[in-house]
Amino acid sequence: MALPESFKEELKARNDIVDVMSSYVEIKRAGRDYVCSCPFHSERTPSCHIYQDTQSFYCFGCHAGGDVIQFIRLIEHCEFMDSVRMLADRAGLALPEDGAGNGVNMRARLLAMNRDAARYFRDVLLSPEGREGMDYLLSRQLTPNTIRKYGLGFAPDGWHNLQFHLRTKGYTDDEMLAGALLARKNNSVYDKFRKRVMFPIIDKSGNVIAFGGRTLEPTAPAKYLNSDETMVFHKRSSLFSINFAKNTKEKFFILCEGYMDVISLNQAGFDSAVATLGTAITPEQANMMKRYDKEVIISYDADGAGQNATMKAINLFEEAGVSAKVLVIPDAKDPDEYIKRFGAESFRQLIDSTTNALRHEFNRLGAGIDLTSPEGKAEFLEKAVEFTAMISKDTQRSTYELETAQITGQPLYVIKDFVEKRRNRNYARSRKEAQRELIRGTAQRDKINPDAAAYPREERAERGIIAYLFHSPDYMARIRSKLSEADFPTEFNRRVFGFITENIKNGYEPDMSLIGSAFSAEETSRVNEICLEADNLPYSLPRLDEYINILVEHREKAGSKPASQLSEDEMLRKMDEMRRKKHSTA
Ligand code: UTP
Ligand code: MN
Repeated sequence: MALPESFKEELKARNDIVDVMSSYVEIKRAGRDYVCSCPFHSERTPSCHIYQDTQSFYCFGCHAGGDVIQFIRLIEHCEFMDSVRMLADRAGLALPEDGAGNGVNMRARLLAMNRDAARYFRDVLLSPEGREGMDYLLSRQLTPNTIRKYGLGFAPDGWHNLQFHLRTKGYTDDEMLAGALLARKNNSVYDKFRKRVMFPIIDKSGNVIAFGGRTLEPTAPAKYLNSDETMVFHKRSSLFSINFAKNTKEKFFILCEGYMDVISLNQAGFDSAVATLGTAITPEQANMMKRYDKEVIISYDADGAGQNATMKAINLFEEAGVSAKVLVIPDAKDPDEYIKRFGAESFRQLIDSTTNALRHEFNRLGAGIDLTSPEGKAEFLEKAVEFTAMISKDTQRSTYELETAQITGQPLYVIKDFVEKRRNRNYARSRKEAQRELIRGTAQRDKINPDAAAYPREERAERGIIAYLFHSPDYMARIRSKLSEADFPTEFNRRVFGFITENIKNGYEPDMSLIGSAFSAEETSRVNEICLEADNLPYSLPRLDEYINILVEHREKAGSKPASQLSEDEMLRKMDEMRRKKHSTA
């Protein structure tokens, strides 16, 4: 659906991209424009640029880019029309009559349905049918108050309890499937959560976006079952209990592994606890925490898996520029158990004694090594040099160089020399890897247009032509007189070209929001990139003709090949072409 031009202009005029983006990320002025650390991938130096004059953004790192509608779409993980709706709300604009769109209704509908489902689970928990669930929660020492605060519930045993209940509230099975509350096998649908204690997952605005369900059967294959991804639930960018943690007065978030850790910590007065949802921490989640300007205290389980995950999290936070500390839990398997055994006061002391993440790792280097023997010192030296060489901040590196010198008894300049050599080696290796990546990357990376690798020359020409159409739609006739959609060898560019020409024919000027209304957010970023690339070229007619010729040549080559030598794709296109010729002469 295309939005009326006037509405689109008004929407963008009232939602300056610099204003909008600065409410999500910290932006800095850079000459005429602005830059920020890209919220869509983790990075140390800001590579996302915001251009006020064109009201657009572009990240040179991950290539996300587009207009303000596209930004909201990416950062809120929503559909095109949801994004339009949010911006309209923000600016106090009414949506055009026919512009309600499906996305907005669907999203609101799923959220309302989740809320009804949460109410249902809660009511069951409080009824005789939920007895088992309630006993379980009480046995884990949750107070009735905590149970209420988190809206915990119980999904009864049976295949259609929630389904029939939600039907009485007017929801269809399709909606329940879209909300991942039902599962489907062959032709039957049934409740996804059965005989489980239910934990609603609530976003920062208080919407119920998904559920986690804990089984009561000790032998069940999955202890916790989480909702699948839906239009309103994106695991990678959600954090359990963020609705409480975002208001904390503490200077830190406590990052735990499990729902129960978070709830127990909360009950003990630590309201800044959050957990990921059955996945390792992602850059999206790290960036989200960064936006609240807090430190993160990593408080994972004491077992091997937890410690591994800790190391990964340290690196991720370092990448994202979030200051992280590590809390080590002694004599208990996780924060939940620790609090129960030793109490809240004791946990507070653990928090106070957390070490900064690098310190934590450095301290572990010497574990199991006899530092009094020369062999032990040599072994430690090797590990310490490797570790120190990976630290990017000079001041931090100095600290650990000095300590390594003290521990090993070597002069400081020797240590510094080792570290410097090691750093050079790492640098050379990472450059080589980056180059290899680049070479391999062009062949493999392209998920959006997988055909690109097979037709590098043609694909470049296709991009050139698409960019021209954006820049000067009046060239369309010239292009169409020589080329048709079928002459575009790559599927994605063909689709973009077809869409743009169709719209120009109907009187619409192509722009990013037009693209956004018909393509996914990732695809929209790609089209944006195509246009930006071409901005460095002169928009001259000879260049356009060059692009056109490349595709014409390709067509002729494919056309003159015997059918047996055509690729399947070329064959289909040729048949398509013949069919169209037949129709136009008929
Ligand atoms: P744990 O097994 O450590 O959970 O998994 P927990 O909270 O300590 O469990 P109990 O209830 O106290 O025994 C940590 C987290 O990993 C995810 C859940 O989000 C859980 O909270 N997980 C775990 C799953 O998604 N599926 C599983 O089968 C197990
Ligand atoms: Mn645990």
